[in-house]
Amino acid sequence: MKKNFKEVVFSGVQPTGNLHLGNYLGAMKNFVELQKKMECIYCVVDLHAITVFQEPQELNKNILETTAGFLACGLDFKKSIIFNQSSVSGHAELAWIFNCVSRVGWMNRMTQFKEKAGSNKENASVGLYVYPNLMAADILLYKATHVPVGDDQKQHLELARDIAQKFNNDFRNENFFPIPEPLIQKKISRVMSLRDGKKKMSKSEESDYSRINLGDSEDEIKKKIKKAKTDSLPIPEKSEDLKNRPEALNLLTIYSSITDSTLEKTLKEMNGKDFSKFKENLSDALISTICPIGKKIQDLRKDKSYLLKILKEGSNRAREVSEHNLNKIKEIVGFI
Ligand code: TYM
Repeated sequence: MKKNFKEVVFSGVQPTGNLHLGNYLGAMKNFVELQKKMECIYCVVDLHAITVFQEPQELNKNILETTAGFLACGLDFKKSIIFNQSSVSGHAELAWIFNCVSRVGWMNRMTQFKEKAGSNKENASVGLYVYPNLMAADILLYKATHVPVGDDQKQHLELARDIAQKFNNDFRNENFFPIPEPLIQKKISRVMSLRDGKKKMSKSEESDYSRINLGDSEDEIKKKIKKAKTDSLPIPEKSEDLKNRPEALNLLTIYSSITDSTLEKTLKEMNGKDFSKFKENLSDALISTICPIGKKIQDLRKDKSYLLKILKEGSNRAREVSEHNLNKIKEIVGFI
């Protein structure tokens, strides 16, 4: 008989540069919704960030910037726990235990490692290779049951489920860890690059024209949308007709998501229009949602002590929740 676990939400964002529209629509917008109905823990995952070298000063700045981003998007530190990963040592401790539960064969299947390590795998950090085990530790340290993420994290989530299952089996403790459920937005699971509709929008893409950053000005948003790749056909009536038009599909999906509508409704509203006209509507919709967030990030960034206080409080709460679980895990493993 499976135990009924208390519903707990956990998710993380790396402090490695600008937050962008992909982070917002794919994950953070959902974080805000979830905090209205569940116990939520949101983490600035700085231990994950250093799997690729970060200049210490930059990292420090980016941890605060991501915290500001969380608050600016609407996370409430009184409702949700907001903290940075490195301040709760249980993440690293449980990751080590999971390094010993997880299998090399499982790691070798991770597509994100292959993408990030590129052609020079020998030179990638060992941390980058075992990154998914740390991610499983983040989630399971809190016995989280639900994990809101973008579609690109799906494989890592499946691995976290395998690790939870294997730990429960190996240590004959069938109901110890819950098997966490990914919560992936159905309407917009993957926001694509503005320059190439087959690639995801990402912080690491060289061209800034490929993404909308949460800190972009009105002019930058207008320019980027104007330059965004499309095709010469008008907007169709049916979503099936967007099958081989990835850039068109991406822009229309972004518009639907940012206006809290559906692709079908957007097509009904826009069909027959050419893209230059639609792009004006898209820019306006983006500006009215993104620019106020950017402005809040800018204001919050000025108050470093406020951001530090929120992280400290959040870390204390996270430590409290996780300590009990970690002690139990150590006992199950056989440590004294
Ligand atoms: P990260 O920092 O790359 O991204 C943060 C969140 O944004 C989502 N995302 C996107 N969603 C849709 N379209 C896109 N183009 C796009 N780009 C990013 C990501 O899916 C993610 O939800 N490994 C994670 C961080 C992490 C984590 C965790 C997440 C560490 N531990 C535990 C959940 C639970 C990462 O690198 O996300």
